[in-house]
Amino acid sequence: MNVAFTRRRVLQGGAAIALAAGFGNAAGFSAAQAASPILRAGEGLARLAPGDYPETRVWSYGDRVPGPVIRVGQGERLTRRFVNDLPQPSTVHWHGVRIDNAMDGVPGVTQEAVPVGGTFDYDFTLPDAGTYWYHPHNRTWEQLARGLYGPLIVEEADPPDVDRDEVLILDDWRLTEDAQIHEDSFGAMHDWSHAGRIGNWITVNGKGESRLPAKRFERFRLRLINAANARIFYLSLEGMKAWTVALDGQPLDAPQPVERLSLGPAQRADLIVDITAGEGEEAFLTSHEQTRDGEERFAITGFPVTGVARDQSLADPQPLPANPVPALGDLSSARREGLQMEGGAMGRMQGAMMGGGFMAMRDLAGAGKVWALNGRADMPDTPWITLTRGETVRIAMKNDTAWPHAMHLHGHHFRQMVGADIGPLRDTLLVGQGESAEIAFVADNPGDWLFHCHMVEHSAGGMMTWLRVD
Ligand code: C2O
Ligand code: CU
Repeated sequence: MNVAFTRRRVLQGGAAIALAAGFGNAAGFSAAQAASPILRAGEGLARLAPGDYPETRVWSYGDRVPGPVIRVGQGERLTRRFVNDLPQPSTVHWHGVRIDNAMDGVPGVTQEAVPVGGTFDYDFTLPDAGTYWYHPHNRTWEQLARGLYGPLIVEEADPPDVDRDEVLILDDWRLTEDAQIHEDSFGAMHDWSHAGRIGNWITVNGKGESRLPAKRFERFRLRLINAANARIFYLSLEGMKAWTVALDGQPLDAPQPVERLSLGPAQRADLIVDITAGEGEEAFLTSHEQTRDGEERFAITGFPVTGVARDQSLADPQPLPANPVPALGDLSSARREGLQMEGGAMGRMQGAMMGGGFMAMRDLAGAGKVWALNGRADMPDTPWITLTRGETVRIAMKNDTAWPHAMHLHGHHFRQMVGADIGPLRDTLLVGQGESAEIAFVADNPGDWLFHCHMVEHSAGGMMTWLRVD
């Protein structure tokens, strides 16, 4: 960490710490809802760093970071007039929603980028309950890093019985010593060819330290969202008993007990947690980071326990109701496609196709491309594959690079196939360096859909393609 201002205190051997006063704003966050049908993006200020530092100049939705929590009922329609008061063209992408293609917010694919001063009317229905989020899809590596993101929560008709439902949206900022966004490193090829833009200041709901006062045996639903450009969060939970009930918005068949989890860029996890820490103690959501000197741990959200909700824990949680995602067809006869991921620092790639011809690595890098999917470093003008509506397709990915990637498919959820095992529905999958991963999905949503790495420097640097569902 290279910023001078004080970081969150490091947890010592799991001992409870007292968090500094003055960070208490996060508790009121979940009450903040978009009351207006306008979603305005513009320049503003946000208090990301401690009070003795200046506010940070950000770009934000609704004048706050994160943007307003949008809550809608499952099956309902969402309408927002996006107003672009940014100094750049932009769009809004509704990440993870099995959306009408025209509303997917991808410039040059589903719409033109909204010019400076322009507007665009988003209007779509939400077929699935769960935890989603929204962010720009133009120059995402800059616009996301400047603070443009917000939670989109689709409520079940019959929600689980919890005392509190809280959104925790995690971000990783690269700040200068006066707490401003590090501008000089936008577009830095070193980041693009390595792990992406990794920051030095982590926030939860826009705060360096967030706190949610809690009661012993209180039950929370925590909706974790990773809005960072490139950081994978490694998280643990202390002073609580927890279950994962949904990933990327989609319910698991059965709640899974959880103590540690990883959350790649754009991924979400819905947890049910029972606070087990006693009165006067504190429960924590803790981030673990590998550094040269070993592992660094620090609380990113504290749950100070100030009372008792009930005598004992509630009964173990029930699964959330499943969403109407079509079941996979016969996998043995399903169409199979391969996706080769190449390039990046310490990779083997010699070059790739770009602009219709082969380019050597150094010429590619000169054009801002350092990665390739199936030997192509630019966004093809024709689809990588065209699928027939309703067909089940399997995609075998091979990560032939020295870096992990967070592979994201638009407009659909897929399942990972591990041998004979079929994993949970997801929209973003971490594929480790050198690893292979096979996914399967039903191509039931017509339109043109991106498939890309959500480490947004990687997608800008070549890890982006698209498929068509006819
Ligand atoms: Cu979160 Cu292509 O998107
Ligand atoms: Cu990547």
